[in-house]
Amino acid sequence: MAVSPPTRLALRGDLLDFTAAPAWGDTASTAVRFRPDHHLLVEGGRIVGAQPAAEPLDPSWSVADHRGHLVLPGFIDTHVHSPQLDVIASHGTALLDWLDTYTFPAERRYADPAEAEAGAARFLDALVAHGTTSAVVFATVHKVSADKLFEAAQARGMRLITGKVLMDRHAPDGLRDDVEQAERDCTDLIARWHGVDRLAYAVTVRFAPTSTPEQLAMAGRLCASHPGVYMQTHVAENVDEVKWVAQLFPEARSYLDVYARAGLMNARGVFAHGIWLDDTDRALLHDHQALIAHSPSSNLFLGSGLFGWRAAEAAGVAVAVASDVGGGTSLSIQRNLADAYKVQAMAGERLSAWTALHAATRGAALGLGLEGEIGSLEAGATADVCVWDWAAGPVPHAHVGRGAALGLGLEGEIGSLEAGATADVCVWDWAAGPVAQRRHAVATALHEKVFAWMTLSDERNLAAAYVAGIPRHQRGAALPC
Ligand code: GUN
Ligand code: ZN
Repeated sequence: MAVSPPTRLALRGDLLDFTAAPAWGDTASTAVRFRPDHHLLVEGGRIVGAQPAAEPLDPSWSVADHRGHLVLPGFIDTHVHSPQLDVIASHGTALLDWLDTYTFPAERRYADPAEAEAGAARFLDALVAHGTTSAVVFATVHKVSADKLFEAAQARGMRLITGKVLMDRHAPDGLRDDVEQAERDCTDLIARWHGVDRLAYAVTVRFAPTSTPEQLAMAGRLCASHPGVYMQTHVAENVDEVKWVAQLFPEARSYLDVYARAGLMNARGVFAHGIWLDDTDRALLHDHQALIAHSPSSNLFLGSGLFGWRAAEAAGVAVAVASDVGGGTSLSIQRNLADAYKVQAMAGERLSAWTALHAATRGAALGLGLEGEIGSLEAGATADVCVWDWAAGPVPHAHVGRGAALGLGLEGEIGSLEAGATADVCVWDWAAGPVAQRRHAVATALHEKVFAWMTLSDERNLAAAYVAGIPRHQRGAALPC
């Protein structure tokens, strides 16, 4: 059933977005625009302005009263794999083994249109339920997997950039294409979906090892002959991967240079990871205005390495944030930002909440050439808006974990849901529990409050998500598509 937005909708809450890029480490940045207790005015699915809630509103506005909640632009996940929800949190491997052991077998299932359709719906609903309203997504090698993702995003009114994965070697049966068929599939998908509603095509090179030089050249030709399309791939994620690329492409100066030689560097390029780059690579990324999709939870989970955000920033390279699920362990952008902070802390750097949240909203939009459309609460932007708990909420019941029960010699009695245990059971309501509430209450400066929120919150804090002005997620409620 198609859902149309209320003509005039005023979202009441504490509005926060960015009008410029905050300087690294500046916790008092004037690039932050905080408008407590305001109405965000949405008309026909677009933001048309904002005004203090105390100012009277014409009765033609319907009000969604989210007072006391933090209202942010919907997050933009710049690198995530739709079929990999099935392998999130898989134990025990680094990148190359992880691909062989878990990921490739799961992706093979998407040859089946029914599986691809169900997976696309599950994935996009999960994104929105985590506060992500736009994404740059890897489908699988199967044309149908991209088709189904586009269809599902269109039905939800979402901004989605995706494409069929290119992979013609070093992948198992059922997951390889060939140059000619892949070119036909991509051309077809571009004609069918690129520029339709809020959708865009990305030429999707999985990574250099799984494409022959001929396929990389074909991908470069596709980018050249369709100037508006994006290009997404992985680069310099893992040291064994980097060594493998050096063996496969001895003529290239570096991993990134493999892509440069194939004509894959452009302002619509989204490069995931970029951990093991050098200054020449960073200069190349800067010169082509390409975007790095930093994926901290994935980098930690797979043991890939610590991304040098400061070096990228010093070289003028645009950096956005990504979940990279299923290498990443959560679709929650806050969880990924909390990990990003810890990755930078390991290098003695301190990521501010402003740089972090900017990278997940306006910064990502800029990197994708979509500023003015997504990533801010500015008049003219599409009303992709999320409403978050950030202060008071119901206080959860006391909870005793199994570890504590063991320590007390009371395992079997309390601390588990095992048959035989006493039925001491908690039902958690809001994720904004007493620890986060207390931290919020004692924080004084805005940065302190928002940093604590970013570090302590996740998708359980999401009260509502609007996509183009339509509520697509409301806690506890089922909403129609
Ligand atoms: N490199 C090539 N494919 C993948 C993938 O699916 N996930 C990650 N994290 N890295 C990759
Ligand atoms: Zn990835």
